[in-house]
Amino acid sequence: MTKDTSEDPLGRMVLQELKSLERAGVTHLARGRREPSLDCPTPRDPTETTTSNPSDTDMAISSDRAAKQTQLDLIQKQVAGCPRCAELARTRTQTVFGMGNPDARLVFLGEAPGADEDAQGIPFVGRAGQLLTKIIEACTLSRNDVYILNILKCRPPGNRNPLPDEAANCREYLDGQLAIIRPEFIVCLGAVAAQNLLETDASIGRLRGKFHLFNGIRVLCTYHPAYLLRNPPAKRQVWDDMQLLMHEMGIELPEKR
Ligand code: URA
Repeated sequence: MTKDTSEDPLGRMVLQELKSLERAGVTHLARGRREPSLDCPTPRDPTETTTSNPSDTDMAISSDRAAKQTQLDLIQKQVAGCPRCAELARTRTQTVFGMGNPDARLVFLGEAPGADEDAQGIPFVGRAGQLLTKIIEACTLSRNDVYILNILKCRPPGNRNPLPDEAANCREYLDGQLAIIRPEFIVCLGAVAAQNLLETDASIGRLRGKFHLFNGIRVLCTYHPAYLLRNPPAKRQVWDDMQLLMHEMGIELPEKR
């Protein structure tokens, strides 16, 4: 039986958290577990792993991926019940943590969930998300190869821009995710993602087309797919940015598009 939680904010948050865990495949909870801290994991020492034959290499890769997923799951659990932004915690259907390969070389960073993402708990699933999927596939990759996340984990009411306080409240989660995934490249989709990550107020037009550095990660900024839906000619510039990115990643693109 589902309890009515409309008058009970705490119950509502617990329910959101349970739903998020269920989606992540958690079916049982241990009693009395302490909240995980968001301490960044110690960077891996590449000399630690002995890779004397291909199967050892495969094992090392998969266990690294599994370890990263476990660490991400801990932050996801914290995010699912996050009360930091009172308005967002009250109005969200659920949090949208992020999704993809926890060991990805490439991360796409958006702004905040919209209505579709809030309903499904998955980033970039609406119209803009479908265009992002096409962009990723045009780069000969799939959504499972990359990791997709947002500056905010909750939908701002009416899809308004994130407030500075909200971005600051959520920053610890984003930094934790990036410290675990340790991608080589981040693509910031739109001005909100780019300006928040890089802590600048430069326009997206000035930021795009070249690499920036964030904690040793190479960052490329480009237009948000929602902007491309309103302004299709800008797809040309996004494709130029993706070609630059693929070149730097050593990924060969088919000759003719
Ligand atoms: N726009 C974003 O910035 N992020 C999403 O997840 C969806 C739309």
